[in-house]
This record gives sequence, C-alpha cells and structure tokens, in this order.
Amino acid sequence: MVKIACIGAGYVGGPTMAMIAYKCPDIRVTVLDISSSRIAAWNSNNLPIYEPGLMEIVEQVRGKNLFFSDQVDQGIQEADIIFVAVNTPTKKLGLGAGRAADLTFWELAARRIASVATTPKIVVEKSTVPIKTAEAISSVLHAAGKTSFSVLSNPEFLAEGTAITDLTMPDRVLIGGTMDEKGIKAAQALASVYAHWVPRERILTTNVWSSELSKLVANSFLAQRVSSINAVSAICEKSGADVDEVARAVGMDSRIGPKFLKASVGFGGSCFQKDILNLVYLCESMGLADVAEYFHWVVKMNDLQKQKFVERIIHGLFNTVTSKKIALLGFAFKKDTGDTRESAAIEICRRLIEEKAQIAIYDPKVEHEQIWSDLSSVCPVELVEIQKLVTICSSALEACSNAHAIAVATEWDEFKMIDFEKVYETMSKPSFIFDGRNVLDHAALRKIGFVVYAIGKPLDPMLNVV
Ligand code: NAD
Ligand code: UDX
Repeated sequence: MVKIACIGAGYVGGPTMAMIAYKCPDIRVTVLDISSSRIAAWNSNNLPIYEPGLMEIVEQVRGKNLFFSDQVDQGIQEADIIFVAVNTPTKKLGLGAGRAADLTFWELAARRIASVATTPKIVVEKSTVPIKTAEAISSVLHAAGKTSFSVLSNPEFLAEGTAITDLTMPDRVLIGGTMDEKGIKAAQALASVYAHWVPRERILTTNVWSSELSKLVANSFLAQRVSSINAVSAICEKSGADVDEVARAVGMDSRIGPKFLKASVGFGGSCFQKDILNLVYLCESMGLADVAEYFHWVVKMNDLQKQKFVERIIHGLFNTVTSKKIALLGFAFKKDTGDTRESAAIEICRRLIEEKAQIAIYDPKVEHEQIWSDLSSVCPVELVEIQKLVTICSSALEACSNAHAIAVATEWDEFKMIDFEKVYETMSKPSFIFDGRNVLDHAALRKIGFVVYAIGKPLDPMLNVV
C-alpha cells in the first residue's frame, strides 16, 4: 500500500488529502500538523474549517485510510510521498517585508523531513512558493538528509467555498519536476495518484520553475480581472452605465469569458494579495521593475476599492458616522467559508471604528473570537475600546434593527432572504443600504424606501455627492 503524508492540516492540506483518501482506497493518507488542537478538531465532528461537502467525505474515510495526527516524525518516517502544505504568508519583518513570502514554515518542515527520513521520499511542494523554492529545498534535503529525495512542485488551485468541487473535477493538475530519470519517475508516481480520478489529459507535467511560476501567474490573472472590473465600476458610477451589464456584454466574448467579472467591495482571501506581492517581489529581485509595477497595481486598485466603499458610506451618511449604527452583513472574504484572511470587512470595520461608528456585525460562519482577533490586529487600541463600538450579532435581523445603514461585505445567499420591509420599519430615516456585493434586489429595496448604493450602478440622487 502506498503511504502518503501531508505536513500542514489547513485549508489545503485537509480537503486535498481527504479527496485523495476518498478517491484512492488503496492509499493510506496521514495528515500531520504541529498544532495538536487543529488535529483534534480534524478528528472530531467539528472540523477546523468550514467547507461545503467536506464533512461528508471526511466521515467516509476517516479511520479507514485517512488519519490526522500530531506525531509529525512518525508520519514522515512511514510515508513514501510527503506533501508539504504549510502556510507561506507575506513576510512581516526583515528583507522583503510586506512582499516576499515567508518560507520559515516550509524550511522547518523540510529540515524535519531531512532529519527524520531514513527511506527514499518524494517530497511534494503543495504550498504556494516563489520560483526556485523546490531547488532550495532540494539542497537542504540532500545536504542534511540520510536518504534520497525527489522534490516535485504540485501547486493547488482549489478555491475556498468550492474546494470539494474543485478537487473532484480540477481544470488541471500541475506537476513540475526535474527532467532527469529520477525526476520523471517521481512525477509519474504522483501522476498515478491523481489518475485514480483525474483524466490523464488534465494532468500536466512541466519543469519545476514553470510549475512554481504558473501558480503565482494564475492567481495574479484572476485577481487582475477582479481589479479590472472594479476599475470599470468606477467609470460606471460616473457615467450611468451598469457594471453587471458591461460585465455580461464583455464576458460573452468567448475570448474573455464570463467568470471573475463580478464587481465587488474588493477581493480578499489568503492567496490573491500574498501571491501577487510575492510575484512583485520576484520581479523586483530580477531587476524587472516595470513588470513588478504592472502587477502591483492589481493590489493597489483593490486597496482603493475598499477605501472608496467606506468613503461612500461616510459621505452618504451626511459626512459623519460617529455614533451611528451600521449593520455589517458578512465578515468572511467570500460566501461559503468561515475564513476571514484579508477580508474586505476587516478594512471596512477599521475605518468605521476610526470614525467612531457603532458597528453591528453578523456572519453566519465566522467564529466570534476570529472577528475580535482580526479587529485587534488592525486597530491600534485595546480590545475593550473596540468592544465599546462593535457588537457581534447572531442574526442579520438583530444586526440591522435600528441601524442607520446596512453594508453588505460578503455575498451570503441568506442575505437575499432578509425581510427588508420589517428591517426598514426599525431603521433611522433616511435608511441606507450599501451593497458591496451587488447581491440584493435593489429595485425592491428602493420601492420599500431605502436609499441604495450598489457597486458600479447608477447612483441614487442622495448619494451623488462623491
Ligand atoms: P493554513 O494556515 O490553513 O494551514 C497551514 C497549516 O500548516 C497550519 O495548520 C499550521 O499549523 C501547519 N504548519 C505550519 N508549519 C508546520 C510544520 N513545520 N509542521 C507541521 N505543520 C505545520 O494554510 P492554507 O490556507 O492551507 O495554505 C497552505 C498553502 O497552500 C499556502 O502556501 C497557500 O498559499 C497555499 N494555497 C492555499 C489555498 C487556500 O485556498 N487557502 C489555495 C491554494 C494554495
Ligand atoms: C483563489 C483562487 O481562485 C484559487 O484558484 C487559488 O487556489 C486560491 O486563491 P480563493 O481566494 O479561495 O481562491 O477564492 P476566489 O473565488 O478566487 O475569490 C477570491 C476573492 O475575490 C474573494 O474575496 C471573492 O469574493 C473575490 N471575487 C472573485 C470578486 O470580487 N469578484 C469575482 O468575480 C470573483
């Protein structure tokens, strides 16, 4: 029986390994993590991440051929193939701070493998990393290790909220390896794991550098589309055009396609900003300043989009939100996840807290402690001070009741079902809705009496002040 281990039981390691175990009953899969509490959660009925369909799959294979363990050394020793899916956040301090990827966790994992492994291993780079990381890791493994290693790049393209569908039917599986006999054999071994359920023509093999670079480029292109349509939304607001109509017309061109053209309050998530900044840093390091600047604008536009949304709220509410109650619907960076990393909601709250607004937050999946931790990390005041301004509610109705304005930061489906007539009765007048996701029925809201702001749509006269 082939044995697979995965170091890192996070948003990528957990679902990806669950899918491999589910599709490959002949493979034993062990997911390892230094965090014992995370492992305990994976072994419980309350998984550490929310992902539609994940629990059903985990329940079918956990304890059969899928195991979660904090015994990292033992897991490494027993495995033939070791995936490394640890976090690679943006560096906060030191050389390249604010741009370069922090590879500390990656190198620690590699050094652990080197010191513990006694039989040949295929080490698979699953985390998103800068080009040449596989080469560097290979050097560490071969210099410090007691056995032979083949290092492959196998970036992950799943998106949160749709991870199970993405893993079941991936557009492609990308495997980068060295072109020598050992590298080709290792790539074939990994390809045969995916071939249990992915058609062979969708399993792509490239050299290591192309594979590492493709992941950064894919995320940069996707984010670039969002920033482009958000830039168009600003033109729409000035001109009376409607961004959804423009996106539809443009996306029907088969060369462009309809996906990732939804204007929004700004993209979030743990990957887009981090990976673009990583690419920007790489370009700068290679002396490609103009290429770096080109990609950097994707992130700068996104920062501006978040700012503009908050400014709409402030200007709309007659240039002051101090002591006004603002209901914030949604805190996750997108629907169907409890993940808040780089969520636009965090920046919206930070700015509104600065203005001393009263914020009532409701999100169906995000843990309350996570919200407090996110706000504490961006507001330069004690948590008790934040808690004087912010409350976390257990329903959308509770958050909206008696508010001056409602702001939608995440496109949760349940927000479309809110009884806005009932909400309107309780709210201060004029009552405002700022739809940062264009998910509500704006005509119906206007009929009730709301003043509505929607991204990239013709402005209500009362809001035409910016
Ligand atoms: P995560 O923070 O959810 O999980 C990483 C896990 O690794 C944590 O549980 C941490 O405790 C563990 N870990 C760190 N160092 C370790 C070590 N030395 N030994 C054992 N465990 C260790 O991160 P994630 O969102 O799963 O992302 C992982 C990687 O995958 C990143 O490089 C990310 O860019 C990439 N990626 C993420 C997504 C996504 O949607 N989240 C999609 C594609 C790629
Ligand atoms: C992304 C990539 O899609 C995925 O391939 C990669 O593996 C990880 O990074 P993720 O961040 O989980 O996935 O979600 P995604 O669906 O890409 O959305 C990212 C952000 O962009 C979200 O905040 C989303 O709301 C926003 N977005 C997306 C828009 O604002 N408009 C769109 O049209 C699409």
